[in-house]
Amino acid sequence: MSDKYDVIIIGTGPGGYVAGIRAAQLGLKTACIEKWVNIDGNIVYGGTCLNVGCIPSKALLEISYNFVNAIEKFELIGINVSNITIDIIKMINSKNKTVATINRGISAILKNNNITVIEGIGKVLSSNKVEVTGKNCIKNILNTDNIIIATGSVPIETSVAPVNGDTIVDSSGALNFTAVPDHLGIIGAGAIGIEIGSVWNRLGSKVTILESESKFLHTVDEDLSKEAYKLFTKQGIDIQLGAIVISSKINDKKIQVIYTKDNSIKTIVFDKLIVSIGRRPCIDNILYSSAGVVIDEKKFIQVNEHCKTNVSGIYAIGDVVRGPMLAHKASEEGVMVANIIAGHKSEINYNTIPNVIYTYPEIAWVGKNEQNIKTLGIEYKIGTFPFYSCGRSMATNSTEGFIKIIANAKTDRILGIHILGQHAGELIANGVIAMEFGASAEDIALTCFAHPTLSESIREAALAVSGNAINIVNRNI
Ligand code: FAD
Ligand code: NAI
Repeated sequence: MSDKYDVIIIGTGPGGYVAGIRAAQLGLKTACIEKWVNIDGNIVYGGTCLNVGCIPSKALLEISYNFVNAIEKFELIGINVSNITIDIIKMINSKNKTVATINRGISAILKNNNITVIEGIGKVLSSNKVEVTGKNCIKNILNTDNIIIATGSVPIETSVAPVNGDTIVDSSGALNFTAVPDHLGIIGAGAIGIEIGSVWNRLGSKVTILESESKFLHTVDEDLSKEAYKLFTKQGIDIQLGAIVISSKINDKKIQVIYTKDNSIKTIVFDKLIVSIGRRPCIDNILYSSAGVVIDEKKFIQVNEHCKTNVSGIYAIGDVVRGPMLAHKASEEGVMVANIIAGHKSEINYNTIPNVIYTYPEIAWVGKNEQNIKTLGIEYKIGTFPFYSCGRSMATNSTEGFIKIIANAKTDRILGIHILGQHAGELIANGVIAMEFGASAEDIALTCFAHPTLSESIREAALAVSGNAINIVNRNI
């Protein structure tokens, strides 16, 4: 361990392991430090995203979607199945198998790229020294020319509902329930609240979400969030907006929650409670003061647009720095920083990072929403196209939602694309590419899309920006 590295990365989440691979591809002598080990004592790669985030939640969303579809839609289209049941233990095992497979995949890629993986807790001593505390608390000092901090984030806790890992859980616990709770409470109607709420609602729980904001999904374009609220409510999810939790009490494995709403005090009893009120950067015990790295007022590591900290040679990426807490944003930053360390020019266009919420229907967007654009005082025009007018949506009996394109009124340049609908998360890539190339609405309107596809609706929404959508169908025909 006394060798000197070109770059040492702390954390192997989607930020850290991707940075490591890119650095190794560029010929840099690279080491990754990871503290997470499983019960067999093996290193766990992939961070939050792979192990308790993106992948397991999407696995459960897919399984639960199939389950509810089989119950609610199959018979309507002539597929007769009876006695549909769900085996929760098998479902969780299937999700765990997916995670384990990807874990092995990351381990193999790191090995193939000759990246040194070091198990232990990394802590930055200075711009070229990292301390690693390994098994049995044995400490080692590693020398390096560059350091990338990619330590991610952890759930925010609240004293009014302290997580105990049994009745009150965070998102990790909510991915591992071994039975369907009768009444599931969730504090926070953000991405986690509505994705995990959807999973257990589909599997039979009565789900109540207590959200402190008075607007649902307040960072999403309002046309989408209002429609999504109606659709999720119709699916049976009870979303209480403006609900401020005051206290919780556990009695006989039931959680009694007291909250205020509309100036009155309310009491509700749950079988399980999930706390999903956001995540905070993981900066605990990763920096000696001798390192001199500045932390900002929100406790993120302070970085510039190239993820450089105030100390030359020390970089930070992913959830531990400003910007959206998204896996692909972390990976993009990892690639950019590795490129920069290797002496290349590298940039990220933060305006074209897509966001997706994997509910049914999905919510996806790129660029600015109408509220942002109004605040900026930019003149704009809008084109929308509903999926009930799309042949492919009708053929798959999934006509909920719409596409909304916002373009600059003067230049026609696209400012934002917002999609509520089936496969919105896949469709949004069209919008990301268009915006990355600085497309106008007319550029998309002049592009040929295959028929019958959902993506044709993007062209229709682009045509609608100038009032020329072709296949607008009256909903009542
Ligand atoms: P992390 O993935 O958190 O990885 C950090 C790693 O650093 C961990 O492995 C940790 O063990 C390690 N570490 C920390 N401190 C040290 C130390 N001192 N020494 C050594 N190792 C250390 N994002 C999406 O884009 N799409 C989604 O669908 C999505 N779904 C999500 C669902 C859930 C339930 C959750 C919780 C999150 C979800 N996210 C999603 C967010 C996504 O998981 C994060 O944005 C992403 O994991 C951040 O990557 P990262 O590399 O910055 O950090
Ligand atoms: P979030 O920030 O998305 O949502 C938290 C919600 O809780 C907000 O609506 C907030 O108003 C509310 N809230 C905060 N304090 C509260 C309180 N005391 N009482 C009631 N409500 C309260 O955070 P979430 O859902 O925990 O997810 C964390 C991060 O993980 C997100 O920022 C997101 O970036 C990432 N994520 C991404 C997903 C995706 O890309 N599909 C899926 C899940 C998570």
